Amino acid sequence: MVAFALMAALLSGCDSDASILDPAGPAADRIFNLFWILHVPAIIVFIVVMALLVLAIMRGRRAKDDDLVRDKPSWTGPFIMTSGVIVPTIVLMGAFLISLNDMSALSAPPRPAVMTIQVEANDWWWKVTYPEADAVTANEIHIPVGEPVMIELTTDDVLHSFWVPRLQVKMDTVNGTTNELWLQADEPGRYRGQCAEFCGLQHANMLFYVVAEERADFDRWLDNESQVADPGAQVAEGAEIFMASTCVGCHQIRGTTADGQVGPDLTHLASRETIAAGILPNTRQNLADFITRPHELKPGVTMPPTNYPPEQLEALLDYLESLD
Ligand code: CUA
Repeated sequence: MVAFALMAALLSGCDSDASILDPAGPAADRIFNLFWILHVPAIIVFIVVMALLVLAIMRGRRAKDDDLVRDKPSWTGPFIMTSGVIVPTIVLMGAFLISLNDMSALSAPPRPAVMTIQVEANDWWWKVTYPEADAVTANEIHIPVGEPVMIELTTDDVLHSFWVPRLQVKMDTVNGTTNELWLQADEPGRYRGQCAEFCGLQHANMLFYVVAEERADFDRWLDNESQVADPGAQVAEGAEIFMASTCVGCHQIRGTTADGQVGPDLTHLASRETIAAGILPNTRQNLADFITRPHELKPGVTMPPTNYPPEQLEALLDYLESLD
């Protein structure tokens, strides 16, 4: 009971949009089942061992010294052999074989992946490339619902780990190596992902979202992302300010002279739900704050603060908000 209560208390702290106990795809279903297959026997064994311990303490207190000497335990007795050797061997071998079977099933998608998406981890954000569509975005991975996609994982710097708890196991990004992981979501929705390997100051704020949508919506989104920016004449002033700023040294806006490769591609910035690697809703105020005082919002971030006179900042925000 104590174990169940403790577990319930711990699990209730888990965020429901990022919990393995709320699986949303075939891989996560397996992980969810394995979780209970391993935990239920562990809880039963824990309760039995605790009960035996309490029993032993109570009997030990009642026994006299003479009895203890006379009742020397026999290490080959049937109770010791059964509960100490045979049962643990069966339980551990069973858990091992079931885990092995699940690991092998999780290594490949149930049917061939419909596309490859490249995800590159950076301190502290995720670059997302759709090589077949020439589309590049950041911290937001759109996938068609009900279809397996292959994710190719790399890192531009240190070790990170790509984890979408409601969809798949974790997978590390290792320098010099490309690791593969498949994703499939069975319900349309927005699934939170998190870097799961300590990578520095903003490790806990290295978030991303997987957005699973119906095929037609996904195709429309991908088609838009593959287009170059076309902001229009009414934001020309803001575009000019951007192109003359230091922003272009790090950020790319496809179809313009901004071709920096250090930070996120901003070609369709306004189409994203969040900024700053998933930690802030993509609102005008948050954009303004992140441009003018990034280190207060994300200590350690490489982006320098940039200050503009108010009317220039408004024009710049108009331009950035037009990049949809
Ligand atoms: Cu990237 Cu932790």
